[in-house]
Amino acid sequence: MSAKPRLTVLGTGYLGATHAICMAVLGYEVLGIDTDAAKIAALSDGRVPFYEPGLPEMLRKALDSGRLRFSTDIAEAGGFGDVHFICVGTPQAADSPAADLRYVDQVVSSLAPHLTRPCLVVGKSTVPVGTAARLTSMLQSSAPAGTAVELAWNPEFLREGFAVEDTMRPDRLVFGVSSPWALSVLESAFAPLLEASVPVVVTDLPTAELVKVAANSFLATKISFINAMAEVCETTGADVQQLAASLSYDPRIGGRFLRPGLGFGGGCLPKDIRAFIHRADELGVGQAVSFLREVDAINQRRRQRTVDLIRAQAGGSLAGVTVCALGAAFKPDSDDIRDAPALDVARLLVAEGAIVRVYDPQAMDNARRAYPDLHYADSVAEAATGAQVVALLTEWDQFRELDPEWLGDYVAVRNIVDGRHALDPTTWRQASWDYRALGRAA
Ligand code: UGA
Repeated sequence: MSAKPRLTVLGTGYLGATHAICMAVLGYEVLGIDTDAAKIAALSDGRVPFYEPGLPEMLRKALDSGRLRFSTDIAEAGGFGDVHFICVGTPQAADSPAADLRYVDQVVSSLAPHLTRPCLVVGKSTVPVGTAARLTSMLQSSAPAGTAVELAWNPEFLREGFAVEDTMRPDRLVFGVSSPWALSVLESAFAPLLEASVPVVVTDLPTAELVKVAANSFLATKISFINAMAEVCETTGADVQQLAASLSYDPRIGGRFLRPGLGFGGGCLPKDIRAFIHRADELGVGQAVSFLREVDAINQRRRQRTVDLIRAQAGGSLAGVTVCALGAAFKPDSDDIRDAPALDVARLLVAEGAIVRVYDPQAMDNARRAYPDLHYADSVAEAATGAQVVALLTEWDQFRELDPEWLGDYVAVRNIVDGRHALDPTTWRQASWDYRALGRAA
């Protein structure tokens, strides 16, 4: 294998596209493969098919370098690549909390027949522990190169909205390997990051698989912990923001992922904790992670409690009440609406008879496609016109920076529920708004 291995990236969704683009910018020859011809056409044409700050510029740079190309033909991957990264999705199954592994299985079984020479297949997708062992046998039994094909696991920790930064300057790299050869290949595939002194943990396959779900479970637990404290604050008159700030000064606790509010959503945290509980049950260690059920339940409750707060502010009933819903994406700087708390709240409000107008700076197309029955506005002003309650549900900077006097001119009543603790209560109250947030006194 050459000093600088040639890389293929199988699956050019959010994770794969970012990985392929960044690796090409780092100097590798990269071939991105996807079955979705529209996605491949867009990427080949220099267009990123989702919203991610900084990635379009990186794509142009990568394409201009001549080191990156895309194809729908997986047969090309076998001849081209020394290292094949599996970057397909593992969503929650339609009928159970388990991870749906069909895309991982499909990509491995369609790649294997084309592996005619020694190479390393590297899993990056988030999978239930034990998947890598199963995939190793699948690969080695159907690849013409047999046991000269090895599998490694290199979990990905990138955050939407920070994908480029997290890929170019990761906190750590985890290399799950079964041989010194696999380790040396991974070292050559990540040489620029190793030269930049990114910490590396070398481990076995099951540990590498587990690191990812453990990390996401810990982050989810931290968020639900502070939201559980918010519930206690709600009945005691205490202030969860001041509580969180006080906790954050203790370096053993730290302030990150301690932002109370509407809770976590997205394509990762919610489904990862559910899949982890399910896998632990299958393995007979379910009791060890049963607290994650509570983490999930606390998180789900935030959505209903936000609706309760909006109803209370509207005077006890939502029937016929006009609500301006600011935000649809599961978090700012993303157009991703998977398991988005904001849209769940909007739908719960509509179910109680409210007239909800949703505005989001980036996620409107995705929201319209997924929930055509909601009303959408093209601007904050349009969403706010005549509203009896404004609900801030995703903390985009555009919403954080809203001028309470300016917004006050559009609404019918100056009521605001800050679902993300994104605004300064004093400023809004001084402008005659009834400001409310979960976990803070009215
Ligand atoms: C998450 C992890 O942070 C990444 O490390 C991981 O790689 C990724 O999942 C994945 O598994 O692929 P992401 O889903 O992009 O990344 O988003 P986060 O920034 O983790 O936010 C998740 C949710 O938690 C959002 O809905 C956010 O609004 C919420 N959140 C976050 C809070 O409610 N409070 C906080 O303090 C922090």
